[in-house]
Amino acid sequence: MTLPSSANPTNTAVSASNNYNQLDPATEARVEDLLSQMTLTEKIGQLFQLNPFGPFDRDHFEAQKAEAAKAERPFHYIPQLRHDMEDLLREGRIGSFLNVTIPSVINHCQRIIMEESRLRIPLIVGSDVIHGYRTIFPIPLGESATWNPALLEQASRVAAEEASAAGVDWIYAPMVDIARDPRWGRIAEGAGEDPFVGMAMARARVRGFQSTDLTSGRRIAACPKHYIGYGAAEAGRDYNTTDFSERTLRDVYLPPFVAAFDAGAGSVMSSFNEISGVPATANPLVLKTILRHELQWPGLVVSDYESVAELVPHGIAADLKDAARLSILAGLDIEMVSDGYPKHLPELIESGEVPLAAVDEAVRRVLRLKFRLGLFENPYTDETLADKIMLRPDFRELALEVAQESMVLLKNEADILPLSPQTRLAVIGPLANNRADLLGCWSLHNHPEDVETVLKGLSVYLPEDHWEYVAGCAIRDEAPPDIAKAVKAAEAADVVLLVLGEGANMSGEGHSRTHLGLPGRQQELVDAVAATGKPLVCVLMSGRPLVIPQLNEQVQALLAAWHGGIRAGRAIADILFGTVNPSGKLTASWPRSEGQIPVYYAHKNTGRPAHEAGTKQFAELFKSVYIDAPNSPLFPFGFGLSYTQFAYSNLKVERPFLGLDETLIVSATVTNCGSHAGAEVVQLYVRDLVGSVTRPVKELKGFQKISLQPGEQQTVRFEIPVCKLGFTGWDMNHRVEPGDFKVWIGPNSATGLEGDFAVTAR
Ligand code: BGC
Repeated sequence: MTLPSSANPTNTAVSASNNYNQLDPATEARVEDLLSQMTLTEKIGQLFQLNPFGPFDRDHFEAQKAEAAKAERPFHYIPQLRHDMEDLLREGRIGSFLNVTIPSVINHCQRIIMEESRLRIPLIVGSDVIHGYRTIFPIPLGESATWNPALLEQASRVAAEEASAAGVDWIYAPMVDIARDPRWGRIAEGAGEDPFVGMAMARARVRGFQSTDLTSGRRIAACPKHYIGYGAAEAGRDYNTTDFSERTLRDVYLPPFVAAFDAGAGSVMSSFNEISGVPATANPLVLKTILRHELQWPGLVVSDYESVAELVPHGIAADLKDAARLSILAGLDIEMVSDGYPKHLPELIESGEVPLAAVDEAVRRVLRLKFRLGLFENPYTDETLADKIMLRPDFRELALEVAQESMVLLKNEADILPLSPQTRLAVIGPLANNRADLLGCWSLHNHPEDVETVLKGLSVYLPEDHWEYVAGCAIRDEAPPDIAKAVKAAEAADVVLLVLGEGANMSGEGHSRTHLGLPGRQQELVDAVAATGKPLVCVLMSGRPLVIPQLNEQVQALLAAWHGGIRAGRAIADILFGTVNPSGKLTASWPRSEGQIPVYYAHKNTGRPAHEAGTKQFAELFKSVYIDAPNSPLFPFGFGLSYTQFAYSNLKVERPFLGLDETLIVSATVTNCGSHAGAEVVQLYVRDLVGSVTRPVKELKGFQKISLQPGEQQTVRFEIPVCKLGFTGWDMNHRVEPGDFKVWIGPNSATGLEGDFAVTAR
């Protein structure tokens, strides 16, 4: 690969992982042999993915329900296959299924292919497994707040174990879109605003998904998405137009994809958005020039859901036929769900508008992946495995660990946390006794009964007569809050624990918001409880950074808990009572107001920066500031508190003058000067002071998560090859330019010890 993929010292591999990008001659020979035997219909079949189920049939549903009730077994609806499905399979007209996770159905279909079709090319089954399959982990934005790629690799491996037992061969994750606009609901699905963090998490997830030794004996291919720039949706509205420079595409949006490919990801999903006026699904710059010519990446490109057909409303294709033509010519291999390829490729080839070679090249990529996954040898799923593997105790344990590390302590005035088990609590808020919302926005195969509520978690620490619970209001609707009851409970307590925030269906795909405060009537509830004067601790759940300046003023402690998955309740209780010292740090800035959006740490300086790195406010006339708010966010990228304190000292830049092929070595001492053992995410940022194009005021280039006992100190050393400091220069070439740099080592993006170095042209 030609683009940089910075080394991340914390990304320790925990298992071996398949690499689907290393071509091997034996597979290539099998691909060519098979391709040479295929008819055009069979070739096009391999380029078509569909959902095999017919329309929902109420009678069929009720009959299955009644049968399950009669047999006293749990009811899981199995929809009926499309009436023409078996014939389509026999004729080789279908190459893959989307989101089918019923092993008996998959096996039935594979059997038809393996026993009755001419060339016996097995299906590849793709599914969205975004933050766990059955063992649901925190939403990815929360997972990234662990700053612990090795842990995410394990979590992704668990997801792969369960998905594989359900018959999935192909996971539509990791979602590696950089997102700097929290109005966009899909910020929940990614690793936040920063390419360096995005790369670390992308690598880890791909490695985990593509682990070599899954219990099923089968393999999984990862599919990083959405390629590319989808997170730049204007105004944060999902599916909206994007418009960014090619430089931003290369320096901000591309690096996590490159990291995923370097880790061996076998496929990529094209995005819904346009890039410079050409939707990604039919964009030759991103699908051909960058992927194939520059990166020399041999993997498979699948469209997003109906994104081929969507070229028509986008207004670059006159009809579905035109959309199919543009997509295949641009380099899109598999069409997901819409049927432009099966309907129109035959005539497009007949007329010469599409060369057969374009179809052959796409089919090669599909076959290559199917061979590499071992599907020809092992197309079937063991139907008994799912029951044995789902929610295994070690998986649940890992979900707890990830949830604990994902949570970010944003405020802890006068060390009100951790709570003592003697505390009398009033637990108030609509998310305290809630299961379904803790599962987050993308948990397709979840079971709410698997979730531990916050109340359940608290019960581990407090006897029931030590707390009173009042929901107080609903998450979202406008029914008046039960203020009297909440206030009464607060008055009888030592501390009020508010459990507030968004529901799971307020973020994720198609769920953008314009107001990012507490939804519904929750703020009213807080105001009433705050008026009692009791100390307030708030656990805040969300799928995105929220805008909560008022709440932040009102509470003494604030814990960002995201939608934390099946073990969230227990993890929250462990943190509140201090069995676990919080160590999460934000991977996306939390704005003070929606008007600041996008607000992110790696912004440019501008020609008229405000004083103090552009983050100071007010009466600076004709500077790049607001008249009514500071530039800085409420909580910056990288921020998160601990129950202990870490002091930074002794920054050392080993050699202040470096050649282009040398390595920057910087270290600092971190001391735990508080009274709890704790973990700290030590962050390294640089600034390239003068470039041929303007450079961000700070860029993360390294992080390490370390654990220290009280009084303990550690010298944290970063080694960063100078070639990792490059960017897309004035001539659109990737380059490292000689000149002066600043470097910081610190606890977050807003502060740190500062040093200097220079890169010389030698
Ligand atoms: C989403 C993708 C997802 C696909 C298949 C689309 O709507 O954008 O992220 O993988 O559906 O479910």
